[in-house]
Amino acid sequence: MSTVFISTRQFASICLFCFMLSFCNGGVLNPSFQIKAVSLGGWLVTEGWIKPSLFDGIPNKDFLDGTALQFKSVTTGKYLCAEDGGGTILVANRTAASDWETFKLWRINERAFNLRVFNKQFMGLDTKGNGVDMVAVSNTPGNSETFEIMRNCDNSCRVRIKAPNGFFLQAKSDVLVTADSQGSSGCGDNDPSVFLMTISGTMQGEFQVTSGYGPEKAPAIMKEHWKTFIVEDDFKFISKNGLNAVRIPVGWWIASHPSPPLPYVGGSLQALDNAFSWAEKYGIKVIIDLHAAPGSQNGWEHSSSRDGSQDWGKTDDNIQQTVDVIDFLTARYAKSLSLYAVELINEPLAPGASLENLTKYYKAGYEAVRRHSSTAYVVVSNRLGTTMEPRELFPLASGMSNLAIDVHYYNVLSDIFNNMTIQQNIVFLLTNRTSQLNYITQSNGPLTFVGEWVAEWEVKGASKGDYQRFAKAQLKVYSKATFGWAYWTLKNVNNHWSLEWMIKNGYIKL
Ligand SMILES: *[C@@H]1O[C@H](CO)[C@@H](O)[C@H](O)[C@H]1NC(C)=O
Ligand SMILES: *[C@@H]1O[C@H](CO)[C@@H](O)[C@H](O)[C@H]1NC(C)=O
Ligand SMILES: *[C@@H]1O[C@H](CO)[C@@H](O)[C@H](O)[C@H]1NC(C)=O
Ligand SMILES: *[C@@H]1O[C@H](CO)[C@@H](O)[C@H](O)[C@H]1NC(C)=O
Repeated sequence: MSTVFISTRQFASICLFCFMLSFCNGGVLNPSFQIKAVSLGGWLVTEGWIKPSLFDGIPNKDFLDGTALQFKSVTTGKYLCAEDGGGTILVANRTAASDWETFKLWRINERAFNLRVFNKQFMGLDTKGNGVDMVAVSNTPGNSETFEIMRNCDNSCRVRIKAPNGFFLQAKSDVLVTADSQGSSGCGDNDPSVFLMTISGTMQGEFQVTSGYGPEKAPAIMKEHWKTFIVEDDFKFISKNGLNAVRIPVGWWIASHPSPPLPYVGGSLQALDNAFSWAEKYGIKVIIDLHAAPGSQNGWEHSSSRDGSQDWGKTDDNIQQTVDVIDFLTARYAKSLSLYAVELINEPLAPGASLENLTKYYKAGYEAVRRHSSTAYVVVSNRLGTTMEPRELFPLASGMSNLAIDVHYYNVLSDIFNNMTIQQNIVFLLTNRTSQLNYITQSNGPLTFVGEWVAEWEVKGASKGDYQRFAKAQLKVYSKATFGWAYWTLKNVNNHWSLEWMIKNGYIKL
């Protein structure tokens, strides 16, 4: 009898041990530790709207990579257009501008540009023909696809486009655009080499800032930004204000230390090293978040797309390259007590990111993390896009341990919020968001992570009290996420998007 007798106390500790085991092996609901994090957005992956001043010193800074331009001939009043969207001639017979009439810049330096058309070819001289007619046929830009945009008219919207043969483009007729104009002294309505330029889109991501400053200036500018934007004191602040983790967006080039491919700049890895040592010092957990995957998983500036293209996941090589980044980062930080989770990719966008290829990547990325750590959580992101099913990753998750699904819940950036009142916003949170979160928070499913949210909305002129109620309602709903949540973001010139500002000014208390 006595040999099998187990005291209540021993029993309790065995139970505790079992509980800890099951916690460590993950997959269980309601782990005792829940992440209350803030993202360090705009730090190691640039986002111009978070810190516009980072772009101030760029020469000719209206013309960054991805800037979308439209050109209307002053003589005919019609727009330049890549006929069929690209692959054939340039025409100038459109009375309104849309996709085919839009040209996206690739910046070579502050003067020289390639202009990419809708089907991804580059505008250029017809080198197979007379060398003067304009076409959009080349998939790889070279000298014949390199232009200058001259803004030396009094009106900065009036431009001339100088071709590599030294002449200016002109709309000779609706269907004939040639690079054979000498221009004139003025910029008047009778000079067919003058175009009215409209900037219809801009991008301010890591590609734009590094390419904009160029290889001479970018390294110093970026290093100064990394050194000053987030500092040790921020981790102290985080630890003292009810948060227990940081989510740190990184770009794929961080793994190409110390010399990433141009235009990227080395040094973000040291900054991440610093973040880990500060996190350890202040007892803060770290979620590494691959925010910018090679080729861009959503075409946005915050995944470092060059021109709005979304090319991630299209080839096995590209997926392997991404897995290698995860492998590199996990290997480097697996021993840190602060490494809590590795988020394999942020905001993959459907349909460009197919479920099949994303799943392939998630499996390989998960294995890469597990090669170095059996305990770090792996975070997979639900796809964005209107058609996606919120439980589409559940089959993938079923065989994995310590896995969380990241969803982003914003009350901005979608038409449904445009005319919502304060009360409607709050009701939406308490009903719609709650049911969305419930839908993916299943006892046999992965953990759930509201990986981005913000106390901002489309309501104009709301009072501090309104914001407080709104933030509180969100915290109430998101505290039901079994993995936890992360505010977007710690620092931002837009006050409500800065958790630091919100806490310091009494809008949010944790
Ligand atoms: C513009 O010109 C092209 C080439 O001749 C032609 O195929 C197209 O139909 C024209 N479009 C318009 C709107 O006139
Ligand atoms: C998925 O990957 C395969 C290569 O394995 C590729 O052929 C296919 O185009 C990719 N699909 C998408 C939508 O990128
Ligand atoms: C929002 O209100 C504006 C006018 O206040 C109206 O023009 C617009 O159609 C409304 N949008 C929606 C989505 O209801
Ligand atoms: C919120 O949920 C309600 C009830 O399911 C639904 O009728 C409504 O359309 C949803 N609102 C939005 C903006 O999706």
